[in-house]
Amino acid sequence: CRCSSKSFQRHCSRISSKKVRVSDALSSEETGANVRIQGWVRSVRPQKDNLFLHLNDGSSLQPLQVVASSHLNTRDLTFGCAVDITGTLEKSPSKRQNVELHAQHIKVVGECNPVDFPFKIKERHSLEYVRQFPHLRCRTNAFSSLLRIRSEATAAIQSFFRDNGYVQIHTPVITSNDCEGAGELFQVEVGSNDPNPHFFSVPAYLTVSGQLHLEVMAGAFSAAYTFGPTFRAENSQSRRHLAEFYMVEAEIAFTESLEDLMKVMEDLFKAATEHVLSSCAEDVELFHKYTAPGRRAIDILKSSSQNFTFSTEWGCDLQTEHEKFLVKHCGNVPVFVINYPYELKPFYARDNQDQPNHTAAAVDLLVPGVGELCGGSLREERLELLSQRLAQAGLADTYAWYLQLREFGSVPHGGFGMGFERYLLCILGLHNIKDVIPFARFSHSCLL
Ligand code: 4AD
Repeated sequence: CRCSSKSFQRHCSRISSKKVRVSDALSSEETGANVRIQGWVRSVRPQKDNLFLHLNDGSSLQPLQVVASSHLNTRDLTFGCAVDITGTLEKSPSKRQNVELHAQHIKVVGECNPVDFPFKIKERHSLEYVRQFPHLRCRTNAFSSLLRIRSEATAAIQSFFRDNGYVQIHTPVITSNDCEGAGELFQVEVGSNDPNPHFFSVPAYLTVSGQLHLEVMAGAFSAAYTFGPTFRAENSQSRRHLAEFYMVEAEIAFTESLEDLMKVMEDLFKAATEHVLSSCAEDVELFHKYTAPGRRAIDILKSSSQNFTFSTEWGCDLQTEHEKFLVKHCGNVPVFVINYPYELKPFYARDNQDQPNHTAAAVDLLVPGVGELCGGSLREERLELLSQRLAQAGLADTYAWYLQLREFGSVPHGGFGMGFERYLLCILGLHNIKDVIPFARFSHSCLL
C-alpha cells in the first residue's frame, strides 16, 4: 500500500490478515502469522507496559491470550465487549498456552458496561443464577461448553444412524394423533381474531412423539429415525421435564425381540458418548462404562427395606423414586427394565402372550442421576389384536390408517425414543434439564 495515512495502513493490514477462530489460533504451530480474530473479551488485566486480555469466540473453552502494548487505544476494553483484533501469533512464555496474539490493532465493535452486565469478571455464577438470562447465558463458560457438547452429540447421533443404514425422516410437528394417549397435548389453533380458527378442520396438536409416522416409514425403509422437537403439556416443573424437548426416535422393521432393540439403544448410547468424550474432552468428565443387570425389577423393589411413597405392587407404574433405587441397587450403571404390565403401556405396545403375567414387550433404559432415558417397545403388528385394543379404547376410527399398516405387508417391528436433554444430563452429571437446552420451556415459563 502506497498510502501514508496510518489509519489507512491499519485498514489494509486488517484486510490482508487471515481471519481465524480462537480454536485454530490455539492449536496453531505457526508463529509470526498475521491474523485477524473477532470475539468477546473474557478478562482484562492491565499491567505496567502491556494490557493482557482473554478473548473468546465460542469455538473453544480455552480463551486466547492477547497482549496489547500501551500505545494502542485500550480505553473501551471491558469484560464482555466485542472486539476485532489484528496482530501476530507468537509463542507464549506462559505454560498455560502455546501461543498468544500480539495485537497491532484493536477495534471495539460493541461496548459492554461491566456494571450492568449480569456476569462479573472472575466470578463463578451458579447455573440457577445464569438461567435467569436466557439471552446472555451462552456467554458463560459452562453454558457455552454445554452447547458445544450438545452440537457434537447431535452430529454423533446423526452419524450413528446414517452409518447403520437408517433413513432420516422429518416427522411432522403438527399432527392429529396423541401417540402416547396420555392427553398431554398442546392444541394448535390460529389467532383468536381469525374467522377460521379450525384451520385443519380436525383438532390438531404439537407432536408428543413421531413414532406412528416412523412406523409408516419403517414399513418402506426397514430402518428409519427422526430427531426433532417434541411437546408435552405436562404440568411439571420437575428437574427432568420440559414442555418442549428433543427426542431421538428409531423404528426398525423385521425386529422380533426386545434384545435387538436394546442392542440398538446401547450402541447408540455408546457411539454418541464416545464421540462426545473424544471431541469435547476438555468439556466433559469421563463417563462410566456401560453394563446391564439381569434381575426382576419388581422383585428388587419389593424385597428392599426402602420406604417408598408410591406402591411397588405389580400393575403400578414405576415412579422416579423406584427408578433411582433400581439404578443405585445395580451399582449406579444404566439399567434396562423390560416387560411392563400390559395395561400400563399405550395401545401400540405388543402383547407378550407367552408370559405368565400379562405384559407388554416394552423396555425402558434407566440411567444414573436421571432415571428414564429411553422408552421403547415392540409394536403390535397383528391386525386382530391391535383392532381389539383400539376398539376397547374407542380409537378404532381415529387410527384406521394405523390399522391399515397391519393389512398391507405388516412385519414385526419395534422402536424407541431417547430424550436428548436427559441424555445430556446423564453424560454430564448435571442435575436440572433446564441447564441443557438453549431456551427452556416449562409450565409457567416461556422466556424470549
Ligand atoms: O417414554 P416416552 O413417552 O416414549 C415415547 O414417546 C415413545 N413413543 C417413543 C418411541 O418409542 N418412539 O418418551 C421417550 C423419552 C423418555 O424416555 C424421556 O427420556 C423423554 O423421552 N421424555 C422427556 N424429556 C424431557 N421432558 C419431558 N417432558 C419428557 N417426556 C419424555
